[in-house]
Amino acid sequence: MTGSAEEKTATIETPDGTFTVRLTCEDLGRIYPGMVRYTITVIRGTEVVYTYAINSYESARQGSLLDTRVAAEIVFARLAHDVASRPHIYTRPRVFIRPLPGGGTTDVVILQGSPRRFGNSAAIASWCDDEAARSGLSSRIFFLQEMDIRPCIGCYTCYNNGYCPVDDDMPPIIRAIESASVLVVCTPVYTGTVPAGLKAVIDRCQWLHAREKVLEKEVHARGLLVAVAGRRGAEPFVCVTRVVGMFMENLGIRPTGPVLVGDLDRVRDVEKIEGAEGDIRAALRALLAPRDEE
Ligand SMILES: Cc1cc2nc3c(=O)[nH]c(=O)nc-3n(C[C@H](O)[C@H](O)[C@H](O)COP(=O)(O)O)c2cc1C
Repeated sequence: MTGSAEEKTATIETPDGTFTVRLTCEDLGRIYPGMVRYTITVIRGTEVVYTYAINSYESARQGSLLDTRVAAEIVFARLAHDVASRPHIYTRPRVFIRPLPGGGTTDVVILQGSPRRFGNSAAIASWCDDEAARSGLSSRIFFLQEMDIRPCIGCYTCYNNGYCPVDDDMPPIIRAIESASVLVVCTPVYTGTVPAGLKAVIDRCQWLHAREKVLEKEVHARGLLVAVAGRRGAEPFVCVTRVVGMFMENLGIRPTGPVLVGDLDRVRDVEKIEGAEGDIRAALRALLAPRDEE
């Protein structure tokens, strides 16, 4: 991470001790062009008791009415005033970010993107789950349709401190992918691409990209896409492979060749497609095998 330049400091003597309010500016151009983050820190003695951050991608447009720098200066002035008038509020650290859930790691994380609980993607997810167990690895299927996952709101605040402000069921998914060695995406093709629920998760995983850039928490997983479609041939999969490929690339996940199973409008059941289960299990087994280079 590049160093941050100190822009402003206020030292405030109060009956509750000496406080320092500091405004620093950090160039995050290595993440996105022109991205700048301002951080205002309140320090009591040597202890950081409050932090507020804002970055230039949070404002709607470049040159919009409320410039990021101006916003940071307003927060700096308000905090300095608040510390001077209510120092007792700042005698203990005030932390407003929710930590990710703790717990052990899951080797194989499976995102099941179909809304159909007992459909083809669900069957494929259970084969992958079983294949992981046969290899002696832990696995977890996330049935996305059953979770409360809201769309990304494009606020860019995950680039301030590595946390997303949207309060829903996303944290366990973020934690699981961050610790996984294999990520499997099982999805049907919906109108040429992935279903909306899976797309929401993909977009929200920008949070993982931010965690890598801001907190240096890297994803080390290898990836596998298994997609099913109603129509025959390669055409239904053009977009879905691109979307999931971009998702994995964005997170530094190294994908293996996808397994694509079409013609389900006619056959209906992926279990009846000769060789499909074997191909899917073999693709996952190849990813689970220990590798010399790793
Ligand atoms: C809303 C919707 C959109 C679909 N769009 C496509 C499509 O664009 N191309 C295609 O080949 N199949 C399409 N299908 C068919 C599904 O991909 C197919 O039925 C698949 O087997 C469903 O997977 P599931 O059993 O895992 O839910 C669509 C199905 C639905 C419900």
